[in-house]
Amino acid sequence: MKPAKKTVPSTIPQGAPPVRHYLQFSDLSTEEYHYLLERTAFIKNKFKTFVRHQPLVDRTLALIFEKASTRTRVSFEAGMYQLGGSVVHLTTGDSQLGRAEPIEDSARVISRMTDIVMIRTFEQTKIDAFAAHSRVPVINGLTNEFHPCQILADIFTYIEHRGPIAGKTVAWVGDGNNMANTWLQAAALLGFHLRVSTPSGYEVNEKTAARPASMGAGSYQTYSDPLDACAHADLVTTDVWTSMGYEAENEVRRKAFAAWCVDSRLMAAAKPDALFMHCLPAHRGEEVSAEVIDGPQSVVWDEAENRMHVQKALMEYLLLGRQA
Ligand code: CP
Ligand code: NVA
Repeated sequence: MKPAKKTVPSTIPQGAPPVRHYLQFSDLSTEEYHYLLERTAFIKNKFKTFVRHQPLVDRTLALIFEKASTRTRVSFEAGMYQLGGSVVHLTTGDSQLGRAEPIEDSARVISRMTDIVMIRTFEQTKIDAFAAHSRVPVINGLTNEFHPCQILADIFTYIEHRGPIAGKTVAWVGDGNNMANTWLQAAALLGFHLRVSTPSGYEVNEKTAARPASMGAGSYQTYSDPLDACAHADLVTTDVWTSMGYEAENEVRRKAFAAWCVDSRLMAAAKPDALFMHCLPAHRGEEVSAEVIDGPQSVVWDEAENRMHVQKALMEYLLLGRQA
């Protein structure tokens, strides 16, 4: 006699909406950003007033780090616990990721046991491959090409201090890196003006930046002199001269970027009430002077804290959709 066929319940609920990933800034629409930014303010306010907000009880976030981190790890980990969920932390060194298990296989396995995944890695193609084989939402916690959670936090921070960012001018001074690429996508989606000044040879690669075809109400201009980029800006922002993964170029970059330090001369070219931001970690005396980053126009500590608040709103949105 044939044994009765066992039925194994699917882990994917019937009629579930398609999985949404956040791999680059352009993965969400302008309208979705307006919702997320408002939702962040709501979630942050609850946290600050000790009101519990736990929509993700029993849900697990996998955090995968192939590069170092302080802010990204703390903000995702603390944020997920605050939402009622829990966290699994993996690094290249302590998992099979470092022993050449294919990324596709890792994605298939990790996404069967967890509900949402954050990855910090090298090439964007790696996170794209993981997402393509994941049953659950994947969030970019920084790749060589993009850092969307950071720019989301930066925009939220700007709005908290100065109101809507649409129509405002943001100056990017320094490397045409993952942060600069992401600012470019954000300017197109949220309708602000982005002025970028990089040393020759370190320009933003517009193909890599993959900005939406139209800049919408925003604009994008490049300047060879950082002073011109900062003129009348509402926000001046920069980042390390050497990003993770490019350490071998450190000495060459130090020379090439010497004139791209955000100091009081550059800040004086911006509007008198301009803000200064830096995603951190910072090197005082290199990309920013101590008097600027530790001065009254700097909002870098709010910016760092807001990583947690925007990511809580993002995780809630990717898992549960829009909340009333
Ligand atoms: N800004 C940022 O992503 O910081 P960490 O590298 O410390 O995560
Ligand atoms: N551009 C920097 C950002 C660090 C948070 C890097 O990729 O290392």
